[in-house]
Amino acid sequence: MRTIIEPFRIKSVEPLRQTTRQEREQYLEAAGYNLFLIQARHILIDLLTDSGTSAMSTEQWAAVMRGDESYAGSESFFRLKRAADELTGFRHMIPTHQGRAAERILFSVMCKSGHIVPNNTHFDTTRANIEFTGARAVDLPLAEAADTQARLDFKGNMDVAALEQLVRTAGAGRIPLVMLTVTNNSGGGQPVSMGNIEAVKRVCAAAGIPLYLDACRFAENAWFIREREPGYADWTPKRIAQKMFSLADGCTFSAKKDAFANIGGFLCSNDDRVAQQETNLLILTEGFPTYGGLAGRDLDAIATGLEEVLDIDYLRYRIASTSYLGRHIADHGVPIVEPPGGHAIYIDAARMLPHIPPHRFPGQALAVELYRHAGIRGVEIGSVMFGEAARHELLRLAIPRRVYTQSHIDYVVEAILEVNGRKEKIRGLEIVEQPPFLRHFSARFREV
Ligand SMILES: Cc1ncc(COP(=O)(O)O)c(C=O)c1O
Repeated sequence: MRTIIEPFRIKSVEPLRQTTRQEREQYLEAAGYNLFLIQARHILIDLLTDSGTSAMSTEQWAAVMRGDESYAGSESFFRLKRAADELTGFRHMIPTHQGRAAERILFSVMCKSGHIVPNNTHFDTTRANIEFTGARAVDLPLAEAADTQARLDFKGNMDVAALEQLVRTAGAGRIPLVMLTVTNNSGGGQPVSMGNIEAVKRVCAAAGIPLYLDACRFAENAWFIREREPGYADWTPKRIAQKMFSLADGCTFSAKKDAFANIGGFLCSNDDRVAQQETNLLILTEGFPTYGGLAGRDLDAIATGLEEVLDIDYLRYRIASTSYLGRHIADHGVPIVEPPGGHAIYIDAARMLPHIPPHRFPGQALAVELYRHAGIRGVEIGSVMFGEAARHELLRLAIPRRVYTQSHIDYVVEAILEVNGRKEKIRGLEIVEQPPFLRHFSARFREV
């Protein structure tokens, strides 16, 4: 059969609430044209993020009931530890309440002022946590990644020559770790090849620098390797993921992505001394090492999710459905970051709306128009989020895992094509009120 179906059926449903255009107009005005400030109940299809928004399976809900809430040594912890050990092979694993908590602990232990941490592309919390220690976060993406239209199989790769150059000029002593984000979220959800992980590992090993994975979307990355990289077509996604982890010395992980959990994360390391320091910090702010910042039931949901996410039918459907959205809008003239990534489609709003200059926020203007027209929420990734450091003006449509069906996605496609059909009429925005930082969460705008 050529049709790729959702590999699940639905047992429990959550009603969606329709709103009228007039109501949405009022909500927009009240929220200052900032979609973060609109109540979720006023959103029809919510593509703000794929993080913590997954639908859990019957097995995960059963695992939630099995959760052992003992303060120390709970069964849930050991079930998670077994699942994480089998997958990653790292010597130490500590649970955290989400990915950024793992990052804060890792960088607090490893980084200090004067240090440099390279990554293919840092996610914003990763960058912020590094810079909070006084170290510098450096992105080393491929040069081709700057072109949203370039179609590379592994556009999320790190520029290995640039890494070698950085190690030579800065000196290995100033680089406490190198990170690789799989898949590369800030770089368009693009995958990293096994060959690239191996090449980065070689540079790190030669310089005595540990390599860490930001492993949020390890399973989606493994699927792209299976589909696109010679030699892996017969491997299971699990075996590919195991090989990815075996090349690293540790990882941070947000279980809110590729573990289908609504909260959670963990931090892994092979270094006994580092792990001890991390555990001390964990106790300070997250909790005892066998629960981190989580309830026992969360640990169990993650343990089950880690197995489910590597299912071949799930991953085939997941990547196909993201690509379905991307191709159906791109093939009808909507410019997207090519090729479609794993968890999201990024519309190149600067290309789509050339009449709106960056200081009038084309990505935000498009987000507002899509909500106004069809009740769909995406997120601007451009000058609102990054100010003058923005490299692109994008609207990201992130797809929650196992939540929406194909007809929901068809609705999104139809809405985007209609908006594209009268794009000349979309107006830019100006900021009327903004906080000193993280302005995308709470700035208020008006249409101009
Ligand atoms: C690549 C990447 N790293 C780290 C994080 C942070 O994880 P969390 O939101 O669980 O703190 C995210 C979240 O979106 C991410 O996409």
